[in-house]
Amino acid sequence: MNLFLAPIQGMTIACYRNLFSELFGGIDAYYAPFIATADMDKVNPVLLKDIMVENNNKDIKIIPQILSNNGTEFKLFSDVIADMGYNEINWNIGCPFPMVTRKKRGSGILPYPDMIKKLLDIACAGKYTITVKMRLGLENSEEGMRVVEVLNEYPLGGVIIHARTGKQMYTGSVDLDSFEAIASACKHEITYNGDIFTYDDYLRISTRFPYIKNFMLGRGALSNPFLPSAIKGKTIPHEDKMSLLKEFHDGIFSYYKNTLSGDKHLCDKMKEFWRQLSAHTDKDGKLLKRIKKCHNSNDYLEAANQILSSSSMWSDSPIR
Ligand SMILES: Cc1cc2nc3c(=O)[nH]c(=O)nc-3n(C[C@H](O)[C@H](O)[C@H](O)COP(=O)(O)O)c2cc1C
Repeated sequence: MNLFLAPIQGMTIACYRNLFSELFGGIDAYYAPFIATADMDKVNPVLLKDIMVENNNKDIKIIPQILSNNGTEFKLFSDVIADMGYNEINWNIGCPFPMVTRKKRGSGILPYPDMIKKLLDIACAGKYTITVKMRLGLENSEEGMRVVEVLNEYPLGGVIIHARTGKQMYTGSVDLDSFEAIASACKHEITYNGDIFTYDDYLRISTRFPYIKNFMLGRGALSNPFLPSAIKGKTIPHEDKMSLLKEFHDGIFSYYKNTLSGDKHLCDKMKEFWRQLSAHTDKDGKLLKRIKKCHNSNDYLEAANQILSSSSMWSDSPIR
């Protein structure tokens, strides 16, 4: 069984992935947040900073991801990325945000299988393997069924399915029946994605789909970084957990302190970090509220250290 860390824009950047693999492990491959192609004849290297080899630990597997609806742009970017040493490029056709879907990108392309075909006709000619990360559809899962018929015609390396429609964004529940229908119609290796927040979630989903060997974790791993290794059968002593989290936090804090300008940006970034983690550290939401009120790094560090210095703060099950 393989576990993959989902790409989460603004969170799972190189520094995050490196620290995650050093401190928690359990992940077989890390999907990098999307790089959006732009109408240009040369790739701006700034866009590739997060996946540059020198910014990523050598012993972890990174899979770059592209958001695009244009085969020529996709291939232009992928050729450059392949020259950096990557042999798998993931195509994002799942992003649900209206700013993206309105332009027929992300899950906005799912109702248009002909556009998908057109892109793959050009993009599949490169010296890399394409994998796809999709949702069930934009509006409904019939769209996903039609997309899979197209995907079956191409030599892809696999298909990751987040078992929601784009219209659902992150609300409601995953639709396992539709996932099953689409996964069964797809001839490529499937990865399941969506709402694995606990070991029991993993057990329920893997028991229902015994033929699925790959699982992708996003918010579940961000809110409980010990979850992937727990799924893999490795137990980390409870008393060690807060000190590992402190090391993780301090690494991320110091990265952003050195790269962001000003305390406000730094505090806002760390609030995102806590929004995920607080599901396991904050029974009544008071600590998160205190962190949300911080606008300078001294106040912030005092609040964060109060949580991180107490080993009793961590709960293995989500408490909120
Ligand atoms: C804030 C945020 C940013 C995301 N960024 C990306 C992204 O860059 N690329 C992508 O394919 N999915 C992205 N996703 C979707 C996740 O990769 C994943 O598919 C989704 O969260 C469902 O998995 P989960 O229930 O395990 O979190 C993002 C999700 C969130 C909440």
